[in-house]
Amino acid sequence: MKAAVIDQRGEMPQYRDFPDPVVHNENELLITMKAAAIKHFDKGRASGKHYSTENDKQNATVIGGDGVGVLADGTRVFALGVSGMMAEKAVIDKRKMVRLPDGIDDAAAAALPNAVAGSAMALRFRANMQSGETVLINGATGFTGKIAVQIAQHFGAKKIIVTGRNPKTLKSLLDLGATEIISTAQDDETFIKQLKDIHSHTPIDIIIDYLWGHTAELILASLKGNGSYTHKTRFVSIGSVTGDKIELSAEHLRSVDLQLSGSGLGSWTNDEVRLLLSEILPEMFQLVVDNKLKVETIKVSLSDIGNLWKMEVTDGKRLVVTI
Ligand SMILES: NC(=O)c1ccc[n+]([C@@H]2O[C@H](COP(=O)([O-])OP(=O)(O)OC[C@H]3O[C@@H](n4cnc5c(N)ncnc54)[C@H](OP(=O)(O)O)[C@@H]3O)[C@@H](O)[C@H]2O)c1
Repeated sequence: MKAAVIDQRGEMPQYRDFPDPVVHNENELLITMKAAAIKHFDKGRASGKHYSTENDKQNATVIGGDGVGVLADGTRVFALGVSGMMAEKAVIDKRKMVRLPDGIDDAAAAALPNAVAGSAMALRFRANMQSGETVLINGATGFTGKIAVQIAQHFGAKKIIVTGRNPKTLKSLLDLGATEIISTAQDDETFIKQLKDIHSHTPIDIIIDYLWGHTAELILASLKGNGSYTHKTRFVSIGSVTGDKIELSAEHLRSVDLQLSGSGLGSWTNDEVRLLLSEILPEMFQLVVDNKLKVETIKVSLSDIGNLWKMEVTDGKRLVVTI
């Protein structure tokens, strides 16, 4: 079969021939692939920098962690891959697939789940979001952030404050459900002041963070208390686009009722992952079919993978390899 292959972690993927994957047990199925999204997760794994690759051996491997394909009986599914998914064929675990409704295209169905995992899982399980709460999304102009805005609204957020760098995309978030926009491309003092003003009028219940680094420091600084009890804020780290480390003083932590957590592969329980596959993703796919959730993709060909791998997409769309 043809596939996107890396021989060593850190190399650029190449479009080339690769042996067909083989089913090893009764839970595995062979599928014909239709689409797989190029996400930070796939790039992190291919480079060997993602924490989930720590114990991986360095062999030639097909890239792509998930995608959309068709089972032997014609059923179209989204699935997590046992083998790499940017290929004509892949092996999946039948316990980790979701049947797709008609009316959602392959590219949208391939792109959406990672963003749902990076938003709904954090809102529902790490932050225990309740209807009527105020949510701040840091880095909302990215693909996952745009989905997070819409899911926060779907979960009943009263107010959705969003930050971002690209002014055009930031403004467009108002059409997706955001109620206030704050630019990250301004001086630190103004950024903190805007946040403090909002927090004093409408206390922020949940912060969903895709950036970490300097903006996370500024957001945490804006919450700092002055000695009397503060509103409880649940901060959930989901990504670290602008830096993996921050400085946070213990005194600052003691000055505020802050719950600091992260959402990702290592923080979800098996039950939460089961719910993702059995309830959350089917609901989200249906929202797309019903035009209540907007998913923006750019379709590209598997044979172009070498050229596309390092391409930056700047307006919150997702590159999806179609096969
Ligand atoms: N833990 C999970 O389950 C999970 C799931 C999905 C994603 N993630 C992580 O979440 C993060 C975001 O993912 P994504 O899919 O939204 O990525 P994306 O579509 O590539 O978006 C990147 C975001 O980062 C912003 N950005 C980049 N450089 C910046 C800078 N120097 N200053 C300020 N903002 C900057 C972009 O802002 P502009 O567009 O405004 O320039 C955009 O909002 C990634 O780290 C990803 O790995 C985690």
